[in-house]
Amino acid sequence: MNATSPADSTRKRVRTRHFAQAKEAGHKITGLTSYDTLTARIFDEAGIDFLLVGDSAGNTVFGYDSTLPVTVDEMIPLTRAVATSVSRALVVADLPFGSYEEGPEQALRTAMRFMKETHAHAVKLEGGVRSESMIRRVVDSGIPVMGHVGFTPQSEHGLGGLLVQGRGADAERVMDDALAVERAGAFSVVLEMVPADLAKAITEKLSIPTISVGAGPHTDGQLMVWTDFAGLSTGRTPSFVKQYANLASTLREATLSFQRDVASGAYPGPEHSYSDETARAARD
Ligand code: KIV
Repeated sequence: MNATSPADSTRKRVRTRHFAQAKEAGHKITGLTSYDTLTARIFDEAGIDFLLVGDSAGNTVFGYDSTLPVTVDEMIPLTRAVATSVSRALVVADLPFGSYEEGPEQALRTAMRFMKETHAHAVKLEGGVRSESMIRRVVDSGIPVMGHVGFTPQSEHGLGGLLVQGRGADAERVMDDALAVERAGAFSVVLEMVPADLAKAITEKLSIPTISVGAGPHTDGQLMVWTDFAGLSTGRTPSFVKQYANLASTLREATLSFQRDVASGAYPGPEHSYSDETARAARD
């Protein structure tokens, strides 16, 4: 949607209808995760179409080993920080594990809380057929929903680990899940770790846009966890990640330089120190 879309030049806020228009026009949609005001501003100014405040915050912000422990109370301030920092991007709040699975009423209550307390523009929840009634209830109340099928991290243990979904005979199950998300009224659906050919077939079958996270090039858009794309994540990153920067090594270098400068006395220099005059001015 970014490079060729009219929304790019006018910098009008991205709405869910622009997702539909992008699919229709064949313009690719771009998304990144964000969990704070600084990255949200940078990504928004660069023209990213949507920001997902993902429960991947469990790994990237809170230091858990999965998304499962993440709570609504933890996600609300992160989502508010992102949603109040953008002027164009559509902000999607990720409903964490345990905040919607009990049924449509719980899903609606949680979605409403995010909409009221964070200024997000849409919510995302995981699951296809099993989440159909939850998605429908939220959508019927006027809240846009982004679906999420294929590998769904909140079901990591049920799925037997971090595994590609929809290979061979399993393709039908993932297709059914995507169709259920569309039937329930979602405005788009994330396909995570799905073979590229299956993602292509789903994209052709569905009228709503598909967003790939490790689902190949044939979807209507691409989403990446920002710490992966910027090379800040530690440990092993999945093979579908393309690293566009190496912030970890940049920060490591900067930290070593700072330590060296402090040890040698090179920092702070006179230009970083207040004289009597500047101290007075700062006080006044
Ligand atoms: O939480 C997240 O970042 C996600 C994406 C990986 C789809 O759900």
